[in-house]
Amino acid sequence: MTISLQQLRAREYAWMDDDASMYLNAASVGPMPAAAVAAANEWSALRQQPQRISVPRMQEAAATARAQFAALIGARAEEIALMPNTTYGLNLAARALPLRPGSILTFDGEFPSCVYPFQALSSRGVTLDLIPRRNGLPDEDALVAAIEQRDDVVAVVVSWVQFATGFVADLARIGAACRAKGVFFIVDGIQGCGVRPIDVHALPIDIFASGAQKWQLSPWGTGFVYVRPELITSIEPHDVGWACMKSSTDYTRLTDYEFDFFDDARRFEVVTIAYHDFAVANAATALLLEAGVAQVAQHLEELGDIVVDWAHSRRDVTLVTPAEPARRAGVLSFTPTDLDGMHARLREGGVVHTVREGAIRLSPHMYNTADEIRRALELLEA
Ligand SMILES: Cc1ncc(COP(=O)(O)O)c(C=O)c1O
Repeated sequence: MTISLQQLRAREYAWMDDDASMYLNAASVGPMPAAAVAAANEWSALRQQPQRISVPRMQEAAATARAQFAALIGARAEEIALMPNTTYGLNLAARALPLRPGSILTFDGEFPSCVYPFQALSSRGVTLDLIPRRNGLPDEDALVAAIEQRDDVVAVVVSWVQFATGFVADLARIGAACRAKGVFFIVDGIQGCGVRPIDVHALPIDIFASGAQKWQLSPWGTGFVYVRPELITSIEPHDVGWACMKSSTDYTRLTDYEFDFFDDARRFEVVTIAYHDFAVANAATALLLEAGVAQVAQHLEELGDIVVDWAHSRRDVTLVTPAEPARRAGVLSFTPTDLDGMHARLREGGVVHTVREGAIRLSPHMYNTADEIRRALELLEA
């Protein structure tokens, strides 16, 4: 039977019941569960005496990370390369995909990870165009129309869930438009991965990158990139290191210099990975899989409903995040007329949150309760 989120909170986040603060900031940093902290302690002790860590154990940690990240998104382990963050995976897309000169499209308002790696391609004749916002939100109709109508578009990059607005892109719709025109489709998944179901095999996505430090509740420096299986052996790694090669698993013949990339996504891993951190990420990911992404998504929808209803009931608050459940995940943003005042009241009340792009952003996760959300909003009633 699936563990309830209440049981999970009691087991993994017991400190939350005793602490004066209320953590509504997973969109910035996901708090590591107790199981991950235990894994960190175990691996720190091992790292103190490295002779206690065997190479097979390190390799097993990496293999488990690939398999578990794959399970979060409906992929297979061999389609996953371990990465230190989202941006590295997006750079892989920018540098390794065979982009002919032309335009890459993204939404104005995206996090810079969807912008800079692609702006950096101008010397190759590839430019980045920002699709203007409509009413402060990504204009998906305009993006799809541009893909359909223009012949210069070579790739599209979007966040699955936007960092400031919380807008959830319709990946099936955008991806279908891309596929119909032979345009690469690249997704920054960090604000949705782990808390929203996705089946990458059912979607026309070429590259999906996610850091694990937020919703995946894992250490900084952990993340992954998914590469569509048909692309894996047809694109060359843009950075090349010993870990890209098949020979890297056999330490007895490293100086044979056999230039032969892995046939799976490990060809994009390049260097010695942070085994310690990925072992910790494995404990956190196991927890998400134990809870089930569908259960987490349902819970976040219910918490989001509370914020949506509250914002709609107030004249001095404008909801930024779309009210429609299909278009929101865990990022819940609203602009009060008195931004500084509401921000201060939340802060003084111990509610950990952020202000992004002039909006208050609450980002609850599976450990938060409906009562907590109501209590946070009551602070704003004052
Ligand atoms: C949409 C999005 N992409 C990427 C990042 C961070 O990128 P990285 O994992 O490369 O540090 C953030 C962090 O706020 C984000 O919100």
